[in-house]
Amino acid sequence: MTDHARVEYDGQTFEAPIVVGTEQERGLDVSKLRGSTGLITYDPGYANTGSARSAITFIDGDAGILRYRGYPIEPLAEQSSFIETSYLLIHGELPTREQLRGFRDQITHHTLLREDMRPLFDAFPPDAHPMAILSAATSGLSTFYQDHYDPLDPADVEVSTYRLMAKLPTVAAWSYKKSIGQPYVYPQNALGYAENFLHMMFAVPAEDYHVDPELTNALTQLLILHADHEQNASTSTVRLVGSTHVNIYAAIAAGISALWGPRHGGANQEVIQMLEEIAAAEGNTASFIARAKDRNDPFRLMGFGHRVYKNYDPRAKIIKNTADTVINKLVGDDPLFEVARELEEAALQDDYFIEKKLYPNVDFYSGLIYRAMGLPLNMFPVLFALGRLPGWVAQWKEMIEDSETRIGRPRQIYVGPTERDYVPISQRS
Ligand code: CMC
Repeated sequence: MTDHARVEYDGQTFEAPIVVGTEQERGLDVSKLRGSTGLITYDPGYANTGSARSAITFIDGDAGILRYRGYPIEPLAEQSSFIETSYLLIHGELPTREQLRGFRDQITHHTLLREDMRPLFDAFPPDAHPMAILSAATSGLSTFYQDHYDPLDPADVEVSTYRLMAKLPTVAAWSYKKSIGQPYVYPQNALGYAENFLHMMFAVPAEDYHVDPELTNALTQLLILHADHEQNASTSTVRLVGSTHVNIYAAIAAGISALWGPRHGGANQEVIQMLEEIAAAEGNTASFIARAKDRNDPFRLMGFGHRVYKNYDPRAKIIKNTADTVINKLVGDDPLFEVARELEEAALQDDYFIEKKLYPNVDFYSGLIYRAMGLPLNMFPVLFALGRLPGWVAQWKEMIEDSETRIGRPRQIYVGPTERDYVPISQRS
């Protein structure tokens, strides 16, 4: 195969080198295109734009493959811990036992929030969406560590990583406690990562609370499955914001906001609302499928479709099995799970979904597990954010350490008015 492509334009020739990845993906390097020809590339939604060389996550969307640092998602979901997967994503290799112990100890050591942060939670209205609180508090964390958040200082980056990983579950749980008017529960460092989070969510000071190991295992698996997904909208946001050399807390806070949207991490919450509507309509999946296909109706099947996967999302496959086990154990029969399975079956047999290669994505079944665990709907995207955190950190770190990184600054094709004369207000009607 040739190592360049040629762009002929207006009598000029531009030779674009071909960039080849380790999985033989090929990209056209257009970084010198404008300088040579005056042309820019136009790619709304960045569907054809490779914004980075990345060694973190590989997805083959046609084959339904997802790997973190070369390791397939399936054994990680089955056998790894969230802390180990986080180490793998952030540092590039599976840790030795000693490295894992050190990483875990550091994260455990930083779980407390500064006491001065408590009033922040009180300041929000009781019905505040916890994603708003998570984003605000993550940005707010930076105010406590202003002497240790230099993005170019490796020691600052290391301690910021521990602080983010340690404190975000506390922030998330406290935003929930605030919404239900219960006292904040402090972290218990003797507990594991997911267990500690569930304890802060569901314990009350008046009683003993023991976290069901089945819940811990299911949550751990969900966190692992959400831990990274290469250059998705929130990760690209973290990289773009981070490319300005702002501190990592601010960059991650921006990623949380990007994740909140219903086309991204907010979809898991919307899936449940959609399934509830279908159940209320006596399980009439056909009418919802018809609406999703109707070009004049903005409705989409939530939890279906993906920019990259044109096959079954490998994460959804695992989550569907876990949902089966967890729901059976915790609630027995869940009519919504039944509706979800029927909806999936009907959609996968429908020509529209077959033609457009729309399959269930990670959000389709995850909400059913969160719901069975007793988590409220608006916490679902927060759980996604907790899972995605190590991926954001790893991608941010790769970006900041990459000598090719420049400030992210796309171009545009201007389509507004050409130059015109200003008319003073006194001369306008
Ligand atoms: N229901 C009905 N039609 C759909 C759906 C859907 N869920 N998803 C895509 N389509 C159609 C879409 O209307 C378009 O049709 P046409 O070519 O006739 O205009 C075609 O399929 C391609 O869709 P697109 O919007 O151009 O694709 P995209 O890559 O820009 O969007 C997506 C991907 C995930 C935003 C989209 O599939 C969607 O809105 N899905 C529902 C929301 C959702 O589940 N989001 C979670 C994504 S996975 C987790 C995450 O990363 O956050």
